Amino acid sequence: MSTGTSSKLQLDIAERFRTVRQRTADFCGPLTPEDMMVQSCPEASPAKWHLAHTAWFFESFILNVFKPGYRLFNEDFPWLFNSYYRSFAEFPEKRLRSSFSRPGLDEVLRYRSWVDEQMERLLEDNPEPEVLSRVELGVNHEEQHQELLLTDILHAFYTNPLRPAYRADLNLPRRDREIGPIRFIEFAGGMVEAGFSGKGFCYDNELPRHRVWLEPFALADRLVTNGEFAEFIADNGYKRSELWLSAGWDALEQNRWRAPLYWDRDDSGWKLFTLRGEFPLEELRDAPVSQVSYFEADAYSRWAGKRLPTEFEWEAAAETQANRDSIEGNLADAGRLMPGVAEESKDHLAQIWGDCWEWTASAYLGYPGFEPLPGSLGEYNGKFMSGQMVLRGGSCVTPRAHIRSSYRNFFQPETRWQFSGIRLAEK
Ligand SMILES: [Fe+2]
Repeated sequence: MSTGTSSKLQLDIAERFRTVRQRTADFCGPLTPEDMMVQSCPEASPAKWHLAHTAWFFESFILNVFKPGYRLFNEDFPWLFNSYYRSFAEFPEKRLRSSFSRPGLDEVLRYRSWVDEQMERLLEDNPEPEVLSRVELGVNHEEQHQELLLTDILHAFYTNPLRPAYRADLNLPRRDREIGPIRFIEFAGGMVEAGFSGKGFCYDNELPRHRVWLEPFALADRLVTNGEFAEFIADNGYKRSELWLSAGWDALEQNRWRAPLYWDRDDSGWKLFTLRGEFPLEELRDAPVSQVSYFEADAYSRWAGKRLPTEFEWEAAAETQANRDSIEGNLADAGRLMPGVAEESKDHLAQIWGDCWEWTASAYLGYPGFEPLPGSLGEYNGKFMSGQMVLRGGSCVTPRAHIRSSYRNFFQPETRWQFSGIRLAEK
């Protein structure tokens, strides 16, 4: 690599670092200090914890390793704000994060400023390539936490009896035309390649690129809407065990699922909770259903006489889309922060990027030849390769720079608090 390229890379990464750090702070703009303490379900974390933990990542894996003479901001923070890296340090139980009233928000913000300042100095200092690649990882890590911060706040506000809006100025999805029925777009299948290729950042779980055989298949040209999902509910979809996987039916009974996570019914019908507050189903009828589990997505697809795509069908289809190098969609950068109505699709797959993560029928496993990152960072993705399903395509709260066709998100099949939706497949 020439010096010119190297310093350009250094500047690009430094710029991405600044942007991502500022953006996390911006997402906290509408929140009060009390909002930032709430942890309303076991999956979620308080916003204040996200602020601290994302700083912890840069301090632990970069500053403390690569900055000569680095002084920890606080001796307790390396274990206190560790999430799950067992080989790095002990960590407190996740469910106790809302008990961290100390350190106070002011101190957490000072921690962020300290880390920012130290990182700027390190980046000015002609750092070695390993530092740059870890900064890139840290930036991607923080982008993931921005998404979690918003989905955690949505859950926090849903459980608040006042049902407050995160932002009252968000635009509701437009309703200026009838949305047509789902059409299926055919793909020939055959021998395809899956996994990351090309330049730039990817996670270890997207590698190595490898061959996969696909039978011919077809994918829905858009996501399943709230209106369509309401028909499943009205047809007793949540009462017919024959539509559900055994573990899915158990989850339904244990958790008393009767509808997607943020749906509530009163005398006037269904109401759906969003980052702008609560709205009647009618207002959001043509927007994609979201906050459904894998089990609900699977049961819906069986009721519809279809199935969910595999992650490899999804990836092969996404790679044929004309805009694959210029990802456009209802992602966090669009600022809508709720799933929108599909554009008329003609012969392409609408909503492939953004709106909702799309559950696939694929278990989250390592690709043939998968190698986790060395050291503690190897715990980032690899150790979760059991009991989880893959989701693809990003959501309305995923940063645009974060998503690509090979990107693999993963959650346990009963998980519902993310913007997770349904694209049907057939054949
Ligand atoms: Fe993390």
